[in-house]
Amino acid sequence: MKALILVGGFGTRLRPLTLSAPKPLVEFANKPMILHQIEALKAIGVTEVVLAINYQPELMLNFLKEFEKKLEIKITCSQETEPLGTAGPLALARDKLIDGSGKPFFVLNSDVISEYPLKEMIEFHKSHGGEASIMVTKVDEPSKYGVVVTEETTGKVEKFVEKPKIFVGNKINAGIYLLNPSVLDRIELRPTSIEKEVFPKIAAEKKLYAMLLPGFWMDIGQPKDYITGLRLYLDSLRKKSSPKLAKGSHILGNVLIDETAVIGDGCLIGPDVAIGPGCVIEPGVRLSCCTLMRGVRIKKHACISSSIIGWHSTVGRWARVENMTILGEDVHVGDEIYSNGGVVLPHKEIKSSILKPEIVM
Ligand code: GDD
Ligand code: MG
Repeated sequence: MKALILVGGFGTRLRPLTLSAPKPLVEFANKPMILHQIEALKAIGVTEVVLAINYQPELMLNFLKEFEKKLEIKITCSQETEPLGTAGPLALARDKLIDGSGKPFFVLNSDVISEYPLKEMIEFHKSHGGEASIMVTKVDEPSKYGVVVTEETTGKVEKFVEKPKIFVGNKINAGIYLLNPSVLDRIELRPTSIEKEVFPKIAAEKKLYAMLLPGFWMDIGQPKDYITGLRLYLDSLRKKSSPKLAKGSHILGNVLIDETAVIGDGCLIGPDVAIGPGCVIEPGVRLSCCTLMRGVRIKKHACISSSIIGWHSTVGRWARVENMTILGEDVHVGDEIYSNGGVVLPHKEIKSSILKPEIVM
């Protein structure tokens, strides 16, 4: 079985992190986002993953060489010379996706995180006999997603409306599809949207079916959702009694700590924290609802909550970093500095407090 991951897009909503790495390579819970997906695909027997890519391909290619071997899965790139949207890349990769077996293939948005119930999706796809299956999930704020209206008993999609301006329903497209090869015959090789141009047509022909995704789901392409997503992800690890979760009297709730990170005495860490490889957390530090990327140093008695600290950044002694502060790569926050929602571009030094949410260039 094959799969295509839609990797393109500039990831602007996840800046400043995406100024240093393409969105799929930004770590989520100590693992590049795309690896969560590739591992899930491998686990249900996918043998080849095609990455539809239009941005920084050389970075992705270098990174992937290592994991192709490690995971024993074939990973190829299908590179666009202009962004082809969410459907055009399928037409471009047509020859890679069709292998003559007539089997359906998976398509994934690269920024969605869930338990990836792909096996169940294959069963669902077989059971309805339609042309395409999409995974849906319920959210409180459907307007920023593709909304799907289904026939309650069968899951047959009656309507697919991308980013509706008026309320249509609260079931949304989760960005995980299983498509018969015939869907490719519907897509032209030009910039085009699967959500606006392809799904509505298949739905009109009553050949599109939606499966309600069991478990958690989040599009982690924006900082606030990334932080919420980490909480949901760690919750699900807890439900599975995962041995990956940290233990100890200095740990509160669900916490992931890479084995190469060093934690000082008297720290209190958690809930919902991920600490990446090579991080150094000096004594007396307080961390909650945050992610520290590889190589971060947090100095004595600093306090960090609801924030993301980019690769190799440092936070000074007694500093307080909170409220969706996002530090890019290699940012240095001075001692006793306060950051309330600062979004700081890579390689900056912060010498005075950021009192309200703003971008620091
Ligand atoms: N190759 C390629 N080329 N990929 C692209 C391009 C492109 O031109 N444009 C976007 N993508 C990729 C993105 O990297 C992402 O993985 C996926 O396509 C979806 O694009 P987003 O920009 O993240 O879309 P969205 O989050 O606003 O909406 C989509 O996802 C929602 C779920 O998170 C839609 O599919 C919605 O219907 C859906 O509800
Ligand atoms: Mg998205």
